[in-house]
Amino acid sequence: MILVTGGLGYIGSHACVSLSNAGQEVAILDNLSNSKASVLQRLRGICPNSVRFEKGDIRDKATLSRLFGTYQISAVMHFAGLKAVGESTKSPISYYDNNIGGTLCLLEAMTTAGVKTLVFSSSATVYGDSCNVPIPEESLRSATNPYGRSKLFIEDILADLHSSDDQWRIARLRYFNPVGAHESARIGEDPVGIPANLMPYIAQVAVGHRERLNVFGGDYPTRDGTGVRDYVHVMDLAEGHVAALRALQRQGGMLTVNLGTGSGTSVLEIIDAFSRVSHRDIPYQIVERRPGDVAQCYAAVAHAERVLEWKAKRNLADMCADHWRWQVENPNGYPQS
Ligand code: NAD
Ligand code: UD1
Repeated sequence: MILVTGGLGYIGSHACVSLSNAGQEVAILDNLSNSKASVLQRLRGICPNSVRFEKGDIRDKATLSRLFGTYQISAVMHFAGLKAVGESTKSPISYYDNNIGGTLCLLEAMTTAGVKTLVFSSSATVYGDSCNVPIPEESLRSATNPYGRSKLFIEDILADLHSSDDQWRIARLRYFNPVGAHESARIGEDPVGIPANLMPYIAQVAVGHRERLNVFGGDYPTRDGTGVRDYVHVMDLAEGHVAALRALQRQGGMLTVNLGTGSGTSVLEIIDAFSRVSHRDIPYQIVERRPGDVAQCYAAVAHAERVLEWKAKRNLADMCADHWRWQVENPNGYPQS
């Protein structure tokens, strides 16, 4: 059985589906701080294998110890954490407590239980304001905000842990920009309040919940002046986790891998693609740049292809179509309970 922390969240829930499709049973630990309990019923409806759930916090040692005592856990996928960049600058302590403190508790519990295989959700944010695209894994890392710094610290903690005991098998997966939803439209991204990220914002404009998109900056040195990112379908990302687990089981060691498509798409290109798929007009206006944004950020993917034997398969039209189907079928996100 695989323990999935944060498994009711956006990426963790999709990873549960991929794990289940690969024949694994999963046990989810989630404190519901950024997800709803109703995700569980949806998940059980699309997962072919058993999905257990425990409501609890990764910082709660008793809960962790009970979980490791109850289930035969062979590996952990660790998604639980806080992820809003803006919020992290206002509440750094809660970000360090949740992300770093929580990871330390989890690592302690894993050590005690003798479970030493971990797949960790890192982020392209560890590349800071690097603009040498495509970005290879060995690029210099830096942080521009507490959220990013928490990911940097955790990456370093995991490296120290692996150096101290090479029985640990650890994958540090650096996600680029996850978008889309499971093709069933039963699970997807359900942001609280005004979406901070581009794709959910566009989807809400397309469905009529918001009037227009603010495009942050039209004067970047890119092909159309708007920011370029590496959008990757969340199911490709989820399958990348299963591939990472297999690679760890195959060869052990510590893997640090970008999960992206390797190609960049501008904001205007996303608007166009989404508009074609949804047959909706997406009104937008170009406004000031968002502080902290880089012009372009996309992954070098050769390492992922080599060590994980994984490559993103779904294209931009698939990402928009699946995100749109989720938005249309769940205009208000998940039900409360
Ligand atoms: P999410 O907020 O949708 O999911 C995180 C889940 O963890 C939520 O269900 C939340 O309730 C739970 N959680 C938070 N703190 C917890 C705690 N202390 N104990 C137990 N459960 C807790 O986020 P997501 O988009 O699915 O991201 C998952 C991971 O991937 C995060 O670590 C995030 O930093 C990382 N990541 C996300 C993105 C992205 O764009 N979504 C990009 C790069 C990295
Ligand atoms: C954001 C996070 C980053 C995280 C990444 C992946 C910030 C500052 N950075 O980056 O830490 O790793 O998500 O989840 O939040 N855009 C608009 N209008 C909008 C929203 C976005 O024009 O309303 C533009 C942005 O300027 C950017 C692109 O769309 O060019 C993508 O933005 P977003 O989805 O927020 O992702 P990132 O900026 O890559």
